[in-house]
Amino acid sequence: MATPAELAFERTNLDEVQLAHLQRLLGTWGILADLSFSDLVLMAPVAAEEQHDATELVILGQMRPSNSATVVQHDLVGQTAGVADYPLAVETFHSGEVTRGEVVLDSGEGPVRLHCIPVRCEGTTVAVLARLSAGVGRRPGHLERTYRDVFNRVAVMLSESTFPFPSEEVATEEAPRVGDGVVLVDEEGRVRYASPNATNALHRMGMYSQIEGRRLTDLGIEESAIEWALASALPVVEEVERRPDVTVLLHCIPLIEHDLVTGCLVLMRDVTDVRRLDRLLLSKDAAIREVHHRVKNNLQTISALLRLQARRLPPGGGRVALFEAERRVRSIAIVHEILSREPSDQVPFDEIVASLIRMAKDSVVSSRELVFEVTGALGEVPADVATPLAVVLAELVQNAIEHAFPEPEDGDSGPGAAAGDGAAEEPPPGHIRVHLLNDGTTLRLEVIDDGLGLPDTFDFNASQSLGLSIVRDLIRSQLGGTITMRNRRDVHPGQGGTMVTIELPTQDVQPIGE
Ligand SMILES: Nc1ncnc2c1ncn2[C@@H]1O[C@H](COP(=O)(O)OP(=O)(O)OP(=O)(O)O)[C@@H](O)[C@H]1O
Ligand SMILES: [Mg+2]
Repeated sequence: MATPAELAFERTNLDEVQLAHLQRLLGTWGILADLSFSDLVLMAPVAAEEQHDATELVILGQMRPSNSATVVQHDLVGQTAGVADYPLAVETFHSGEVTRGEVVLDSGEGPVRLHCIPVRCEGTTVAVLARLSAGVGRRPGHLERTYRDVFNRVAVMLSESTFPFPSEEVATEEAPRVGDGVVLVDEEGRVRYASPNATNALHRMGMYSQIEGRRLTDLGIEESAIEWALASALPVVEEVERRPDVTVLLHCIPLIEHDLVTGCLVLMRDVTDVRRLDRLLLSKDAAIREVHHRVKNNLQTISALLRLQARRLPPGGGRVALFEAERRVRSIAIVHEILSREPSDQVPFDEIVASLIRMAKDSVVSSRELVFEVTGALGEVPADVATPLAVVLAELVQNAIEHAFPEPEDGDSGPGAAAGDGAAEEPPPGHIRVHLLNDGTTLRLEVIDDGLGLPDTFDFNASQSLGLSIVRDLIRSQLGGTITMRNRRDVHPGQGGTMVTIELPTQDVQPIGE
Protein backbone atom coordinates (compact mmCIF):
# COMPACT_ATOMS: atom_id res chain seq x y z
CA MET A 1 0.00 0.00 0.00
CA ALA A 2 1.31 3.43 -0.89
CA THR A 3 2.27 5.67 2.02
CA PRO A 4 0.94 9.25 2.26
CA ALA A 5 4.39 10.45 1.16
CA GLU A 6 4.36 8.18 -1.90
CA LEU A 7 0.88 9.40 -2.81
CA ALA A 8 2.05 12.99 -2.38
CA PHE A 9 5.03 12.37 -4.69
CA GLU A 10 2.65 10.92 -7.29
CA ARG A 11 0.75 14.19 -7.43
CA THR A 12 3.81 16.09 -8.64
CA ASN A 13 5.39 15.87 -12.06
CA LEU A 14 8.94 15.53 -10.84
CA ASP A 15 11.16 13.45 -13.08
CA GLU A 16 13.13 10.52 -11.73
CA VAL A 17 16.31 12.45 -11.02
CA GLN A 18 14.42 15.18 -9.16
CA LEU A 19 12.43 12.62 -7.24
CA ALA A 20 15.58 10.82 -6.14
CA HIS A 21 17.15 14.17 -5.17
CA LEU A 22 14.21 15.04 -2.91
CA GLN A 23 14.07 11.58 -1.44
CA ARG A 24 17.74 11.80 -0.53
CA LEU A 25 16.95 15.10 1.16
CA LEU A 26 14.13 13.46 3.12
CA GLY A 27 16.58 10.74 4.11
CA THR A 28 19.01 13.13 5.81
CA TRP A 29 17.09 16.23 6.76
CA GLY A 30 16.78 15.30 10.42
CA ILE A 31 20.18 16.99 10.70
CA LEU A 32 18.78 20.18 9.18
CA ALA A 33 15.78 20.22 11.54
CA ASP A 34 18.14 19.96 14.49
CA LEU A 35 20.60 22.54 13.18
CA SER A 36 17.78 25.05 12.72
CA PHE A 37 15.81 24.05 15.85
CA SER A 38 12.79 24.11 13.54
CA ASP A 39 10.09 22.01 11.98
CA LEU A 40 10.78 21.44 8.32
CA VAL A 41 8.23 20.95 5.59
CA LEU A 42 9.11 20.05 2.02
CA MET A 43 6.66 21.01 -0.73
CA ALA A 44 6.58 20.75 -4.50
CA PRO A 45 4.01 21.93 -7.06
CA VAL A 46 1.06 19.74 -7.86
CA ALA A 47 1.21 18.44 -11.46
CA ALA A 48 -0.23 20.88 -14.00
CA GLU A 49 -3.33 18.89 -14.95
CA GLU A 50 -4.37 18.73 -11.32
CA GLN A 51 -3.76 22.42 -10.59
CA HIS A 52 -6.68 24.71 -10.04
CA ASP A 53 -4.78 27.96 -10.00
CA ALA A 54 -1.21 27.02 -10.91
CA THR A 55 -0.01 27.89 -7.41
CA GLU A 56 -0.71 24.74 -5.48
CA LEU A 57 2.03 22.91 -3.65
CA VAL A 58 1.71 19.46 -2.10
CA ILE A 59 3.52 18.64 1.13
CA LEU A 60 5.96 15.77 0.52
CA GLY A 61 7.50 15.47 3.94
CA GLN A 62 7.65 16.90 7.40
CA MET A 63 10.42 16.68 9.97
CA ARG A 64 10.41 17.70 13.61
CA PRO A 65 13.52 18.81 15.45
CA SER A 66 14.73 16.46 18.17
CA ASN A 67 16.32 19.25 20.19
CA SER A 68 13.45 21.70 20.53
CA ALA A 69 9.66 21.78 20.72
CA THR A 70 7.68 21.33 17.54
CA VAL A 71 5.38 24.09 16.36
CA VAL A 72 3.46 21.83 13.97
CA GLN A 73 0.99 19.66 15.84
CA HIS A 74 -0.58 18.02 12.78
CA ASP A 75 0.67 15.58 10.22
CA LEU A 76 0.86 17.69 7.10
CA VAL A 77 2.17 15.11 4.62
CA GLY A 78 -0.09 14.85 1.58
CA GLN A 79 -1.88 18.14 2.27
CA THR A 80 -2.09 20.79 -0.37
CA ALA A 81 -0.59 24.16 0.43
CA GLY A 82 -1.94 26.98 -1.69
CA VAL A 83 -1.30 30.69 -1.85
CA ALA A 84 -3.87 31.17 0.85
CA ASP A 85 -1.87 29.16 3.39
CA TYR A 86 1.71 29.59 2.27
CA PRO A 87 1.99 32.61 -0.01
CA LEU A 88 5.70 32.84 0.76
CA ALA A 89 6.35 29.25 -0.26
CA VAL A 90 4.61 29.82 -3.57
CA GLU A 91 6.61 33.01 -4.03
CA THR A 92 9.88 31.23 -3.26
CA PHE A 93 9.09 28.51 -5.74
CA HIS A 94 8.35 30.94 -8.54
CA SER A 95 11.07 33.50 -7.82
CA GLY A 96 13.72 31.04 -6.69
CA GLU A 97 14.54 33.43 -3.83
CA VAL A 98 14.59 32.88 -0.09
CA THR A 99 11.63 34.47 1.70
CA ARG A 100 10.97 35.05 5.37
CA GLY A 101 7.78 35.94 7.17
CA GLU A 102 5.09 34.43 9.30
CA VAL A 103 2.33 31.90 8.88
CA VAL A 104 -0.71 30.95 10.94
CA LEU A 105 -1.08 27.20 11.21
CA ASP A 106 -4.35 25.25 11.29
CA SER A 107 -3.77 24.28 14.88
CA GLY A 108 -4.90 27.81 15.70
CA GLU A 109 -1.89 28.87 17.70
CA GLY A 110 -0.39 32.29 17.04
CA PRO A 111 1.68 32.90 13.93
CA VAL A 112 4.99 31.07 13.66
CA ARG A 113 8.08 32.19 11.80
CA LEU A 114 8.45 30.90 8.29
CA HIS A 115 11.65 30.73 6.26
CA CYS A 116 11.31 29.36 2.72
CA ILE A 117 14.32 28.07 0.84
CA PRO A 118 14.26 27.02 -2.81
CA VAL A 119 15.50 23.48 -3.38
CA ARG A 120 17.22 23.10 -6.72
CA CYS A 121 18.18 19.99 -8.57
CA GLU A 122 20.68 20.48 -11.41
CA GLY A 123 19.88 24.18 -11.41
CA THR A 124 16.07 23.91 -11.58
CA THR A 125 13.89 24.82 -8.63
CA VAL A 126 11.97 21.64 -7.84
CA ALA A 127 10.69 22.20 -4.32
CA VAL A 128 10.56 24.53 -1.36
CA LEU A 129 11.91 23.73 2.06
CA ALA A 130 9.87 25.62 4.63
CA ARG A 131 11.32 26.08 8.07
CA LEU A 132 8.79 26.77 10.80
CA SER A 133 9.86 27.96 14.21
CA ALA A 134 8.56 29.77 17.26
CA GLY A 135 9.79 33.31 17.71
CA VAL A 136 12.99 33.64 19.74
CA GLY A 137 12.31 35.00 23.18
CA ARG A 138 15.85 35.28 24.41
CA ARG A 139 19.24 35.86 22.90
CA PRO A 140 20.48 32.60 21.40
CA GLY A 141 23.66 31.11 22.88
CA HIS A 142 26.87 30.22 21.05
CA LEU A 143 25.70 26.71 20.18
CA GLU A 144 22.40 27.92 18.73
CA ARG A 145 24.06 30.66 16.71
CA THR A 146 26.63 28.24 15.32
CA TYR A 147 23.98 25.65 14.38
CA ARG A 148 21.78 28.24 12.70
CA ASP A 149 24.78 29.53 10.80
CA VAL A 150 25.57 26.01 9.56
CA PHE A 151 21.92 25.55 8.64
CA ASN A 152 22.06 28.71 6.54
CA ARG A 153 25.17 27.42 4.79
CA VAL A 154 23.35 24.18 3.98
CA ALA A 155 20.35 26.23 2.82
CA VAL A 156 22.63 27.91 0.28
CA MET A 157 23.72 24.46 -0.86
CA LEU A 158 20.06 23.44 -1.25
CA SER A 159 19.52 26.32 -3.64
CA GLU A 160 22.81 25.71 -5.44
CA SER A 161 21.85 22.07 -6.15
CA THR A 162 24.79 20.83 -4.07
CA PHE A 163 22.76 19.38 -1.18
CA PRO A 164 21.75 16.59 -0.77
CA PHE A 165 24.86 14.98 -2.17
CA PRO A 166 24.46 12.53 -5.04
CA SER A 167 26.13 9.85 -2.94
CA GLU A 168 24.37 10.63 0.32
CA GLU A 169 22.87 7.53 1.77
CA VAL A 170 19.70 7.54 3.78
CA ALA A 171 20.60 7.99 7.42
CA THR A 172 20.67 4.73 9.29
CA GLU A 173 19.48 4.31 12.83
CA GLU A 174 23.09 4.48 13.92
CA ALA A 175 24.03 7.63 12.02
CA PRO A 176 25.09 10.41 14.37
CA ARG A 177 22.55 13.15 14.85
CA VAL A 178 23.18 16.73 15.84
CA GLY A 179 22.47 15.97 19.48
CA ASP A 180 25.24 13.35 19.52
CA GLY A 181 27.98 15.89 18.92
CA VAL A 182 28.89 18.52 16.35
CA VAL A 183 32.31 19.76 15.29
CA LEU A 184 32.59 22.48 12.74
CA VAL A 185 35.90 22.76 10.91
CA ASP A 186 37.03 25.39 8.41
CA GLU A 187 38.35 24.74 4.92
CA GLU A 188 41.80 23.97 6.34
CA GLY A 189 40.48 21.44 8.78
CA ARG A 190 40.82 23.66 11.86
CA VAL A 191 38.17 23.24 14.51
CA ARG A 192 35.97 26.33 14.70
CA TYR A 193 33.45 24.92 17.11
CA ALA A 194 32.88 21.76 19.12
CA SER A 195 29.56 21.13 20.87
CA PRO A 196 29.62 19.93 24.49
CA ASN A 197 28.79 16.34 23.46
CA ALA A 198 31.49 16.38 20.79
CA THR A 199 33.95 17.68 23.37
CA ASN A 200 33.01 14.78 25.64
CA ALA A 201 33.57 12.31 22.84
CA LEU A 202 36.93 13.87 22.07
CA HIS A 203 37.84 13.64 25.75
CA ARG A 204 37.01 9.97 25.73
CA MET A 205 39.33 9.64 22.77
CA GLY A 206 42.09 10.96 25.02
CA MET A 207 42.09 14.54 23.84
CA TYR A 208 42.02 17.01 26.67
CA SER A 209 43.78 20.08 25.30
CA GLN A 210 42.13 23.17 23.89
CA ILE A 211 40.32 22.06 20.76
CA GLU A 212 39.18 25.17 18.98
CA GLY A 213 41.58 26.59 16.42
CA ARG A 214 43.54 23.31 16.23
CA ARG A 215 43.46 20.65 13.58
CA LEU A 216 42.25 17.29 14.76
CA THR A 217 45.38 15.65 13.32
CA ASP A 218 47.56 17.94 15.40
CA LEU A 219 45.64 16.71 18.38
CA GLY A 220 46.44 13.14 17.52
CA ILE A 221 43.12 12.14 16.00
CA GLU A 222 43.07 10.38 12.67
CA GLU A 223 41.51 12.89 10.44
CA SER A 224 41.41 11.09 7.14
CA ALA A 225 37.62 11.22 7.03
CA ILE A 226 37.54 14.99 7.43
CA GLU A 227 40.44 15.53 5.04
CA TRP A 228 38.77 13.36 2.47
CA ALA A 229 35.45 15.17 2.83
CA LEU A 230 37.21 18.53 2.38
CA ALA A 231 39.21 17.32 -0.60
CA SER A 232 36.47 15.45 -2.42
CA ALA A 233 33.53 17.72 -1.53
CA LEU A 234 31.60 14.55 -0.74
CA PRO A 235 30.26 13.30 2.56
CA VAL A 236 32.26 10.64 4.38
CA VAL A 237 31.13 8.27 7.10
CA GLU A 238 33.89 6.63 9.10
CA GLU A 239 34.23 4.77 12.31
CA VAL A 240 37.32 5.75 14.29
CA GLU A 241 38.73 3.51 16.99
CA ARG A 242 40.93 5.20 19.51
CA ARG A 243 42.74 3.52 22.36
CA PRO A 244 41.58 0.02 22.87
CA ASP A 245 38.13 0.90 24.01
CA VAL A 246 36.64 3.96 22.33
CA THR A 247 34.79 3.92 19.02
CA VAL A 248 33.42 7.08 17.49
CA LEU A 249 31.32 7.26 14.37
CA LEU A 250 32.01 10.34 12.22
CA HIS A 251 29.72 11.73 9.56
CA CYS A 252 31.55 14.48 7.72
CA ILE A 253 29.44 16.77 5.57
CA PRO A 254 31.41 19.24 3.45
CA LEU A 255 29.95 22.74 3.30
CA ILE A 256 30.10 24.20 -0.17
CA GLU A 257 29.48 27.66 -1.52
CA HIS A 258 29.84 28.63 -5.18
CA ASP A 259 31.57 25.30 -5.84
CA LEU A 260 34.20 25.90 -3.16
CA VAL A 261 34.46 23.84 -0.03
CA THR A 262 34.28 26.32 2.83
CA GLY A 263 34.39 23.90 5.71
CA CYS A 264 33.00 20.70 7.04
CA LEU A 265 30.28 19.78 9.48
CA VAL A 266 31.32 16.74 11.48
CA LEU A 267 28.65 14.88 13.40
CA MET A 268 30.18 12.48 15.86
CA ARG A 269 28.66 9.82 17.98
CA ASP A 270 30.39 7.80 20.64
CA VAL A 271 29.34 4.27 19.69
CA THR A 272 31.65 2.51 22.13
CA ASP A 273 28.78 1.01 24.10
CA VAL A 274 26.89 0.03 20.95
CA ARG A 275 29.96 -1.76 19.59
CA ARG A 276 30.61 -3.48 22.88
CA LEU A 277 27.03 -4.75 22.89
CA ASP A 278 27.42 -5.89 19.29
CA ARG A 279 30.50 -7.88 20.27
CA LEU A 280 28.75 -9.34 23.30
CA LEU A 281 25.76 -10.35 21.21
CA LEU A 282 28.04 -11.97 18.68
CA SER A 283 29.81 -13.96 21.34
CA LYS A 284 26.48 -14.83 22.99
CA ASP A 285 25.26 -16.23 19.67
CA ALA A 286 28.45 -18.23 19.32
CA ALA A 287 28.07 -19.54 22.88
CA ILE A 288 24.46 -20.61 22.29
CA ARG A 289 25.46 -22.35 19.09
CA GLU A 290 28.28 -24.12 20.91
CA VAL A 291 25.93 -25.29 23.65
CA HIS A 292 23.50 -26.76 21.13
CA HIS A 293 26.38 -28.41 19.34
CA ARG A 294 27.54 -30.04 22.57
CA VAL A 295 24.03 -31.09 23.55
CA LYS A 296 23.66 -32.68 20.14
CA ASN A 297 26.99 -34.50 20.51
CA ASN A 298 26.02 -35.76 23.94
CA LEU A 299 22.65 -36.97 22.71
CA GLN A 300 24.34 -38.74 19.84
CA THR A 301 26.68 -40.42 22.30
CA ILE A 302 23.72 -41.55 24.39
CA SER A 303 21.94 -42.87 21.33
CA ALA A 304 25.09 -44.74 20.25
CA LEU A 305 25.33 -46.32 23.72
CA LEU A 306 21.71 -47.42 23.58
CA ARG A 307 22.25 -48.91 20.15
CA LEU A 308 25.31 -50.80 21.35
CA GLN A 309 23.40 -52.16 24.31
CA ALA A 310 20.43 -53.11 22.17
CA ARG A 311 22.67 -55.11 19.84
CA ARG A 312 23.96 -57.12 22.76
CA LEU A 313 20.46 -58.25 23.74
CA PRO A 314 18.75 -61.26 22.19
CA PRO A 315 15.79 -60.44 19.90
CA GLY A 316 12.73 -59.57 21.95
CA GLY A 317 11.00 -56.89 23.94
CA GLY A 318 14.05 -55.53 25.72
CA ARG A 319 15.98 -55.14 22.54
CA VAL A 320 13.10 -53.41 20.76
CA ALA A 321 12.66 -51.05 23.69
CA LEU A 322 16.31 -50.02 23.58
CA PHE A 323 16.16 -49.40 19.85
CA GLU A 324 13.04 -47.28 20.37
CA ALA A 325 14.72 -45.27 23.11
CA GLU A 326 17.71 -44.77 20.85
CA ARG A 327 15.47 -43.46 18.07
CA ARG A 328 13.69 -41.06 20.42
CA VAL A 329 16.96 -39.59 21.62
CA ARG A 330 18.11 -39.18 18.03
CA SER A 331 15.02 -37.21 17.06
CA ILE A 332 15.79 -34.71 19.82
CA ALA A 333 19.40 -34.52 18.66
CA ILE A 334 18.17 -33.43 15.24
CA VAL A 335 16.60 -30.30 16.73
CA HIS A 336 19.83 -29.38 18.52
CA GLU A 337 21.83 -30.04 15.41
CA ILE A 338 19.73 -27.46 13.55
CA LEU A 339 19.84 -25.03 16.47
CA SER A 340 23.62 -25.27 16.51
CA ARG A 341 23.62 -23.92 12.96
CA GLU A 342 20.98 -21.23 13.40
CA PRO A 343 21.73 -19.13 16.43
CA SER A 344 18.18 -18.02 17.04
CA ASP A 345 15.30 -19.13 19.16
CA GLN A 346 13.36 -19.80 15.97
CA VAL A 347 14.07 -23.06 14.22
CA PRO A 348 13.38 -23.83 10.57
CA PHE A 349 11.06 -26.74 11.28
CA ASP A 350 10.92 -27.95 7.71
CA GLU A 351 14.60 -28.87 7.91
CA ILE A 352 13.83 -30.87 11.02
CA VAL A 353 11.04 -32.69 9.18
CA ALA A 354 13.42 -33.52 6.35
CA SER A 355 15.98 -34.94 8.80
CA LEU A 356 13.33 -36.92 10.68
CA ILE A 357 12.04 -38.45 7.47
CA ARG A 358 15.58 -39.39 6.47
CA MET A 359 16.05 -41.02 9.85
CA ALA A 360 12.72 -42.83 9.59
CA LYS A 361 13.57 -44.16 6.13
CA ASP A 362 16.77 -45.63 7.53
CA SER A 363 14.79 -47.51 10.14
CA VAL A 364 12.45 -49.23 7.68
CA VAL A 365 12.89 -52.99 7.86
CA SER A 366 9.70 -53.94 6.06
CA SER A 367 9.99 -55.90 2.86
CA ARG A 368 7.31 -53.68 1.45
CA GLU A 369 8.39 -50.55 -0.35
CA LEU A 370 7.44 -47.37 1.51
CA VAL A 371 7.12 -44.00 -0.19
CA PHE A 372 7.52 -40.89 1.98
CA GLU A 373 6.19 -37.50 1.04
CA VAL A 374 6.23 -34.12 2.77
CA THR A 375 3.82 -31.43 1.57
CA GLY A 376 3.38 -27.87 2.79
CA ALA A 377 5.65 -26.14 5.28
CA LEU A 378 5.66 -24.78 8.80
CA GLY A 379 8.49 -22.27 8.48
CA GLU A 380 10.16 -20.95 11.61
CA VAL A 381 8.99 -22.36 14.91
CA PRO A 382 10.14 -21.37 18.42
CA ALA A 383 12.78 -23.76 19.73
CA ASP A 384 10.69 -24.79 22.74
CA VAL A 385 7.90 -25.89 20.40
CA ALA A 386 10.23 -27.52 17.88
CA THR A 387 11.71 -30.10 20.25
CA PRO A 388 8.47 -31.71 21.50
CA LEU A 389 6.95 -31.41 18.05
CA ALA A 390 9.90 -33.23 16.50
CA VAL A 391 9.54 -36.05 19.02
CA VAL A 392 5.80 -36.31 18.29
CA LEU A 393 6.32 -36.35 14.55
CA ALA A 394 8.98 -39.02 14.85
CA GLU A 395 6.60 -41.20 16.92
CA LEU A 396 3.76 -40.85 14.42
CA VAL A 397 5.90 -41.58 11.39
CA GLN A 398 7.43 -44.51 13.19
CA ASN A 399 3.97 -45.84 14.03
CA ALA A 400 2.94 -45.66 10.40
CA ILE A 401 6.08 -47.58 9.45
CA GLU A 402 5.59 -50.20 12.14
CA HIS A 403 1.84 -50.71 12.21
CA ALA A 404 0.26 -49.61 8.95
CA PHE A 405 2.01 -52.06 6.67
CA PRO A 406 2.48 -55.35 8.50
CA GLU A 407 4.49 -58.17 7.00
CA PRO A 408 2.16 -60.65 5.31
CA GLU A 409 2.76 -63.60 7.62
CA ASP A 410 3.88 -62.22 10.93
CA GLY A 411 2.40 -59.63 13.25
CA ASP A 412 5.65 -58.85 14.98
CA SER A 413 7.34 -55.63 14.06
CA GLY A 414 10.11 -53.30 15.07
CA PRO A 415 13.77 -53.25 14.30
CA GLY A 416 14.28 -56.42 16.35
CA ALA A 417 12.06 -58.45 14.10
CA ALA A 418 13.93 -57.75 10.96
CA ALA A 419 15.50 -61.06 10.20
CA GLY A 420 14.78 -63.01 7.09
CA ASP A 421 11.36 -63.56 5.68
CA GLY A 422 8.98 -64.27 3.04
CA ALA A 423 8.90 -65.16 -0.55
CA ALA A 424 5.40 -63.69 -0.75
CA GLU A 425 4.50 -61.81 -3.92
CA GLU A 426 5.39 -58.10 -4.06
CA PRO A 427 2.73 -56.02 -2.30
CA PRO A 428 2.06 -52.52 -3.69
CA PRO A 429 4.13 -49.73 -2.13
CA GLY A 430 2.79 -48.04 1.00
CA HIS A 431 2.58 -44.28 1.29
CA ILE A 432 3.30 -42.11 4.31
CA ARG A 433 2.60 -38.44 3.92
CA VAL A 434 3.39 -35.60 6.28
CA HIS A 435 1.36 -32.49 5.56
CA LEU A 436 2.31 -29.17 7.17
CA LEU A 437 0.38 -25.94 7.34
CA ASN A 438 1.06 -22.63 9.06
CA ASP A 439 -1.47 -19.82 8.72
CA GLY A 440 0.15 -17.53 11.28
CA THR A 441 -2.16 -18.46 14.15
CA THR A 442 -2.26 -22.24 13.97
CA LEU A 443 0.33 -24.88 13.15
CA ARG A 444 -1.25 -27.95 11.63
CA LEU A 445 0.52 -31.25 11.10
CA GLU A 446 -0.97 -34.34 9.54
CA VAL A 447 0.55 -37.77 9.27
CA ILE A 448 -1.39 -39.89 6.83
CA ASP A 449 -0.77 -43.44 5.66
CA ASP A 450 -2.68 -45.67 3.29
CA GLY A 451 -2.14 -48.86 5.29
CA LEU A 452 -4.30 -51.10 7.41
CA GLY A 453 -6.04 -48.48 9.48
CA LEU A 454 -6.47 -48.58 13.24
CA PRO A 455 -7.46 -51.77 15.08
CA ASP A 456 -11.22 -51.97 15.81
CA THR A 457 -10.63 -51.83 19.53
CA PHE A 458 -8.40 -48.79 19.22
CA ASP A 459 -9.15 -45.91 21.56
CA PHE A 460 -6.68 -43.08 21.27
CA ASN A 461 -7.36 -41.62 24.70
CA ALA A 462 -7.25 -44.94 26.46
CA SER A 463 -4.16 -46.27 24.73
CA GLN A 464 -1.61 -47.19 27.39
CA SER A 465 1.35 -47.92 25.16
CA LEU A 466 4.37 -45.68 25.48
CA GLY A 467 4.49 -44.09 22.00
CA LEU A 468 1.02 -42.58 22.02
CA SER A 469 1.26 -41.70 25.73
CA ILE A 470 4.30 -39.58 24.91
CA VAL A 471 2.48 -38.02 21.97
CA ARG A 472 -0.64 -37.21 24.02
CA ASP A 473 1.32 -35.73 26.84
CA LEU A 474 3.54 -33.54 24.68
CA ILE A 475 0.74 -32.21 22.51
CA ARG A 476 -1.83 -31.56 25.20
CA SER A 477 0.19 -30.63 28.27
CA GLN A 478 3.36 -29.20 26.89
CA LEU A 479 2.18 -27.59 23.65
CA GLY A 480 -1.45 -26.85 24.54
CA GLY A 481 -2.64 -28.32 21.25
CA THR A 482 -5.19 -30.86 20.06
CA ILE A 483 -4.71 -34.21 18.39
CA THR A 484 -7.09 -36.58 16.67
CA MET A 485 -6.25 -40.00 15.33
CA ARG A 486 -8.78 -41.74 13.14
CA ASN A 487 -9.28 -43.99 10.18
CA ARG A 488 -9.14 -42.16 6.91
CA ARG A 489 -12.39 -43.74 5.80
CA ASP A 490 -14.18 -41.74 8.53
CA VAL A 491 -13.22 -38.57 6.70
CA HIS A 492 -12.80 -39.72 3.11
CA PRO A 493 -15.04 -42.75 2.54
CA GLY A 494 -13.36 -45.47 0.53
CA GLN A 495 -9.82 -44.57 1.55
CA GLY A 496 -7.83 -46.90 3.73
CA GLY A 497 -5.25 -46.09 6.33
CA THR A 498 -4.80 -43.81 9.30
CA MET A 499 -4.83 -40.08 9.66
CA VAL A 500 -3.40 -38.15 12.60
CA THR A 501 -4.12 -34.42 12.84
CA ILE A 502 -2.37 -32.07 15.25
CA GLU A 503 -3.25 -28.43 15.74
CA LEU A 504 -1.26 -25.99 17.83
CA PRO A 505 -2.40 -22.46 18.45
CA THR A 506 0.55 -20.12 18.52
CA GLN A 507 1.32 -16.43 18.70
CA ASP A 508 5.08 -16.67 18.28
CA VAL A 509 5.19 -18.15 14.85
CA GLN A 510 5.77 -16.25 11.65
CA PRO A 511 3.25 -17.20 8.99
CA ILE A 512 4.87 -18.75 5.95
CA GLY A 513 6.00 -16.31 3.32
CA GLU A 514 6.96 -13.38 5.58
N1 LIG B 1 -0.45 -45.59 11.59
C1 LIG B 1 -1.03 -46.62 12.27
N2 LIG B 1 -1.67 -47.59 11.60
C2 LIG B 1 -2.23 -48.61 12.28
N3 LIG B 1 -2.21 -48.74 13.62
C3 LIG B 1 -1.60 -47.80 14.33
C4 LIG B 1 -0.95 -46.70 13.71
N4 LIG B 1 -0.42 -45.92 14.68
C5 LIG B 1 -0.68 -46.53 15.86
N5 LIG B 1 -1.39 -47.63 15.66
C6 LIG B 1 -1.89 -48.54 16.72
O1 LIG B 1 -1.82 -47.85 17.96
C7 LIG B 1 -1.08 -48.63 18.87
C8 LIG B 1 -0.39 -47.76 19.85
O2 LIG B 1 0.70 -47.06 19.28
P1 LIG B 1 1.91 -46.64 20.17
O3 LIG B 1 2.82 -45.82 19.37
O4 LIG B 1 1.36 -46.00 21.41
O5 LIG B 1 2.56 -47.97 20.61
P2 LIG B 1 3.51 -48.89 19.79
O6 LIG B 1 3.91 -48.28 18.53
O7 LIG B 1 2.85 -50.21 19.73
O8 LIG B 1 4.73 -49.02 20.73
P3 LIG B 1 5.78 -47.88 21.11
O9 LIG B 1 5.46 -47.52 22.49
O10 LIG B 1 7.08 -48.48 20.94
O11 LIG B 1 5.54 -46.76 20.17
C9 LIG B 1 -0.18 -49.46 18.02
O12 LIG B 1 0.23 -50.62 18.67
C10 LIG B 1 -1.05 -49.77 16.82
O13 LIG B 1 -1.91 -50.84 17.08
MG1 LIG C 1 4.71 -46.32 18.41
